[in-house]
Amino acid sequence: MPRQGQNEDQIQHKILYTYSALVYFFESGGRLMDILRKEFKHFATSHNILGLTLPTLKAVQQKKHCYTIDRARQFLKFQNRINEELLKHKVITDNPFTKWFEKGEASYEQVKAFLVQFSVFSNLFLIAQLKKMINATTLEGMRESKEILANEIGVIFNARLPRSAESKGEVELAMTDKTQNDEVDPQLVSTHGTVEGGKFRFAAAHFEWLYNIAQKFGLSFHEIGKRRHGTKETLHFCDELARLYGSEDYATCMAASYAVENWAAAGFWKELIGGLQQFRVKSKMDFPISFFTWHDRIEDQHAAHTQEELEEYYFENEIDEDQFLKYGNEMMDGIYVFWKGLTVIARVT
Ligand SMILES: [Fe+2]
Repeated sequence: MPRQGQNEDQIQHKILYTYSALVYFFESGGRLMDILRKEFKHFATSHNILGLTLPTLKAVQQKKHCYTIDRARQFLKFQNRINEELLKHKVITDNPFTKWFEKGEASYEQVKAFLVQFSVFSNLFLIAQLKKMINATTLEGMRESKEILANEIGVIFNARLPRSAESKGEVELAMTDKTQNDEVDPQLVSTHGTVEGGKFRFAAAHFEWLYNIAQKFGLSFHEIGKRRHGTKETLHFCDELARLYGSEDYATCMAASYAVENWAAAGFWKELIGGLQQFRVKSKMDFPISFFTWHDRIEDQHAAHTQEELEEYYFENEIDEDQFLKYGNEMMDGIYVFWKGLTVIARVT
């Protein structure tokens, strides 16, 4: 409704002016980022240090303490070792279960068995995440872990506030929750932001998203998620997560986190989604798969953040490269045992 003294023309003019100002602000912001990226790329090429993340390149260019060109070159050599000796682990390159599952050939019983084991992992992961939070070496690290833990148990990210680790430009003003009837559709829940100021909903707990699917397969609450439902392979994986990812030793925990995040971002969620979508069509069953699609959406940012964290740690501390690769590989082995166990229960040949 027009305020007194303002005619519709004036209001329209104001709206247009505000809109143009916003467009200019965002477009010039984008151009500025492009220019900065180009500048950093040029700096990296001329010093032969291409491959570092932007925050690290910026620190090197600004000659921040410890961020020397020599250290940058040492790190890139180490990154090559990581690429060769850790990221080519068979759980990333050759996961027999997800490869098979993606084809959509799983039967009702096989999908059901998979859901039970996945629910055990999803629930027991909370223990590893809690240990990681307790063993954090800095307040910032503790908060990072708390973000993940709180979100797992039902605190919806407040997308209006950026997390300290996120750049403001990446924050989307996504719908934060769906409060009616206490239903929370993960498809509509933001993957950005922070739990600070976020709303807690029981139904936003990731385990409950999974329970919603499990119910469609006739599984009741007492049949999923507990340790007693896990096969020895699933329990081995969960225990390795608690031992390595939740380790008191920061170097061990960091290597395990790096392994977990890079495994999670390497595409297994997409393979599971593909298989579930095909199963849904084939079986004519109607069940939500947003537990899987939500996790797929969030993984890329996690891996990018883990990379920045590793670079920061490497430049500011002495790192035992062999130990990092050793613990990273132990974590990858643990993850592989989980999937191998699933091939047995699903009788994948
Ligand atoms: Fe989760």
